[in-house]
Order: sequence, then structure tokens, then C-alpha cells
Amino acid sequence: MQPVVHVAPESDRAIEDAVLAAGGRIGPLEEAAALIWLDSNPESFPDALPDGLRWVQLPSAGVETWLDRIDRERLWTSAAGAYGLPVAEHALTLMLAGARRLADCARAATWTAPPVRPLDGATVLIIGAGGIGRALMRLLAPLDVRVVAVTRRGRDGTLPAERMPEALPEADHVVIAAPATAGTRHLIGASELDAMRDDAWLVNVARGSLVDTDALVDALARGAIGGAALDVTDPEPLPDGHPLWSEPRALITPHVANPAATLRRYLARHVQENVARFAKGEALLSPIDPEAGY
Ligand SMILES: NC(=O)c1ccc[n+]([C@@H]2O[C@H](COP(=O)([O-])OP(=O)(O)OC[C@H]3O[C@@H](n4cnc5c(N)ncnc54)[C@H](OP(=O)(O)O)[C@@H]3O)[C@@H](O)[C@H]2O)c1
Repeated sequence: MQPVVHVAPESDRAIEDAVLAAGGRIGPLEEAAALIWLDSNPESFPDALPDGLRWVQLPSAGVETWLDRIDRERLWTSAAGAYGLPVAEHALTLMLAGARRLADCARAATWTAPPVRPLDGATVLIIGAGGIGRALMRLLAPLDVRVVAVTRRGRDGTLPAERMPEALPEADHVVIAAPATAGTRHLIGASELDAMRDDAWLVNVARGSLVDTDALVDALARGAIGGAALDVTDPEPLPDGHPLWSEPRALITPHVANPAATLRRYLARHVQENVARFAKGEALLSPIDPEAGY
């Protein structure tokens, strides 16, 4: 089968080449069996879709803002897993920056001696062992690091979500790589922060809503944890004057873990694999489960 695929709301050379390489044909929405949607903002998405459309591919790994657009008439897939490597690379950057106290050094205007530690020998708790979490495990493999991973249901030897609290007190680094769902909102709140070691670092590359920001600000001010390195915040963008900007134990990057310059390249690979599977009638990567919220 050579499925007709519509790419919207704009055309994109890399994505269209991926469709063609997978054996698809680019065509108008009215004739399409599949829609590759490239805008991460649901507001621009069409209100109605043709009856013949059987699959919608969204461009984002996190789909919490799409849930009320997803119908049960057709299959919807996200880009979960597609950006695992670049986001894991950023998580590793933030972990190293925390362990090596780079923010302290960058802010210092005099010769100081921050409490630098190696990552080597550390225990790393990774909450969410999907595309990002597994890529981070691969990046950490050359280091002598003990990894404890958590998934929703505890698959493949990981801890199930309800057992995450028991791993918190051992972790030197707690890395959040799970989706924003009703079940993960404020996954890290006051009691989880208090359960962490007072020299442990919290890294969030997933979504700001997984951390209770007020509880984090309080924990940082009390020295309850070593520090927090955040690519995502709640609220986002983090407003000027927010206490996290002036907190010496906080390091903020402005949601840049998945760089815009390479995003389409990773999405194109995901699209190519999914169009090839669609053409062969095989199960697609990253189907969205509206009940689970990701
Ligand atoms: N900062 C950025 O620029 C950026 C870029 C891409 C993605 N993200 C965010 O990162 C999230 C993860 O991306 P991904 O590609 O790794 O997604 P993914 O492949 O779907 O992996 C998500 C992982 O989280 C686990 N999970 C779900 N609910 C959980 C819970 N309550 N407790 C613990 N783990 C739970 C899943 O468990 P199962 O294996 O059991 O399903 C899965 O292992 C996305 O949803 C998105 O919000 C951020």
C-alpha cells in the first residue's frame, strides 16, 4: 500500500522526504489516510477531519494540551521517544552542572570553593524510563553510576510509580522524564523534597507541572536539597522576578533541551518509521492513550 499522507499546517522538506522514503505519497487532506501535523499549538488544528483519515501524527512528545482534540475515530500518535537523545543530553548537562556547581562558579565574582562532586559513583533516580530516560541511561553507561528507574507500571525491571518514594532518599540526582498527566501533577512536592538527601540535585527536563514550584522554592531556601536544575518550569515562561531566578541553588534553562535547530530532523526519523509501519499495517510508535494522558 502507498498511503496518501498530508503534511500541515506548512510543508516541510525533511518531513516530506521522510514520508516518500517510507513509501508514502504526499497529497491533499481530503484524499489522505494520514495527517502529519507540525504545529505544537493545538489552536491551529482543524476543527473537523475527513472521514477517510485513519491516523494523525502530532509533533510533540508531551500531548497534555491535545487531549480534548483527540477523537476515537482514528489512531493518534505523539512524538514520544523521538527526542530522547537530545533531551537526555541536556539532562546529563544539568546533572553535571549540578554536581560540578557550574552555576555557583558562573555567578561568582571572586575565587570560591564550591562543594564540587563527581558524577562517578553517584546514584541516579530517573523518573520515566521512556525515550528520554532510556537515552539518559545509555549516556550514563560509561560512568560508574547506579541507576534506579521508574515507569508507570514498573515494566522491564523498573520500579512502578507507587514505589518511587522509597528510592528518593538514596539518590544523588533525581531526574524527571515522565509525561505531564493528571497522575504526575506535583509528583515532586514538599514530602518528596524532604525525603531527598540535603545534597541531592533535582533535574527536570519533562514538564514544569511535575514539580510543586512553591514547595521547591521553600526546599531550596531551607537547604533541604542540594539544588535544582530545570529546563521546564511552572509557570512557564518563568516570570521575571520569580524567586527561582535569584535562588543560588537553582539553575534554569529556558525549555531548550530539545533544540529547535534539530527538532525536525528527529521528528522526520520518527515520521519515516511510522509511515513505513502504517504502509505495512503494523503497530505504530507512540500511540496516544487518552485515558493515561500520554
Ligand atoms: N524539555 C523538552 O524540551 C522536552 C522534550 C521532549 C519531551 N519532553 C517531556 O518529556 C516527557 C517524556 O518524554 P519521552 O519521549 O521520554 O516520553 P515516553 O517515551 O512516553 O516516556 C515516558 C515515560 O514516563 C513513564 N511514566 C508515565 N507515568 C509515570 C508516572 N506516574 N510515574 C513515573 N513514570 C511515569 C512512562 O512509563 P511507561 O513506560 O510505563 O509508559 C515512560 O517510561 C514528555 O511527555 C514531554 O512532556 C520535554
